[in-house]
Amino acid sequence: MDEVELVEMGPRDGLQNEKRLIPAEEKIALVDALSQAGFRRIEVASFVSPKWVPQMADGAEVLAGIKRAEGVSYMALTPNLKGFERAMAAGADEVAIFASASEGFSQANINCSIAESLERFVPVMEAARAAKVKVRGYVSCVTDCPYDGDVPPAKAAQVAQELMAMGCYEVSLGDTIGAATPEKIRDMLLAVLDHVPAEQLAGHYHDTGGRALENIEMSLELGVRVFDASVGGLGGCPYAPGAAGNVATEDVHDRLVALGLATGLDRAALEAAAEIARGMRG
Ligand code: HMG
Ligand code: MG
Repeated sequence: MDEVELVEMGPRDGLQNEKRLIPAEEKIALVDALSQAGFRRIEVASFVSPKWVPQMADGAEVLAGIKRAEGVSYMALTPNLKGFERAMAAGADEVAIFASASEGFSQANINCSIAESLERFVPVMEAARAAKVKVRGYVSCVTDCPYDGDVPPAKAAQVAQELMAMGCYEVSLGDTIGAATPEKIRDMLLAVLDHVPAEQLAGHYHDTGGRALENIEMSLELGVRVFDASVGGLGGCPYAPGAAGNVATEDVHDRLVALGLATGLDRAALEAAAEIARGMRG
């Protein structure tokens, strides 16, 4: 049976959007539940500016408090060298740098242009190489940007290629606002695949428009075998009531199984984590 890997995003991408300041113990309980489900990678924290994302300020406490399961890589987002140093001090197993395919989102999210962000990642990559730490790359807004509108596929391809050239082992392609259609995902992926092989790509689709599962199926057709998801569908925009967050891990799991694909996840353990996650939503 074909294997697909789901990378769990809930404790980071999910919880970063929650308005209520969630105590570290609750985040730790969620990660510990997720550690029982069979994931190989769980993104547990981000070491960004606490002024920008107060919800993620306690990343070191979360990493210190979790019970690490064997074979699980606990990941953290790092926007710059300071973030990388904090992530290392906290014991993150691997890190991720994040860029955007659109200038508008780059400015809004990390306060610099795309080119400036790539320059800022160079010392992070150097430090990671010296510390023998793996680095994942994200490209946000690969099809749609909340500021710039439609994003040309060539732009997503260019940024993905640059992140790979810098030394990322995989690039995760983000439909940040969940506005993509399967057709747009296809066009974007075809452009990216000219530069990066499918084995080094992941799909990171938010479900705001309700089409994330279709977008995953389109990506499967084009050879992508890694997808990011958040248990319980954690996330969503606090300024758009009812808007969905990342596609729910359990929904992706069920769809993949229905398609005859294996995820290696324990469905009962996944459900237990999803229940905790749903209880955390504001
Ligand atoms: P800036 O204000 O331009 O940065 O922010 P700066 O370098 O001028 O620093 C300003 C202050 O922040 C300084 O402190 C720095 O020390 C501090 P002050 O002197 O004023 O007291 N600072 C930090 N503190 C702790 N840790 C750090 C750090 N860096 C600077 N790492 C910056 C630039 C990138 C830092 C800021 O814009 C930022 O933190 N942005 C992150 C926003 C974010 O976390 N967004 C969500 C994650 S991305 C995402 O969700 C998309 C994804 O899921 C994929 C998808 O869906 O598309 C991955
Ligand atoms: Mg995201």
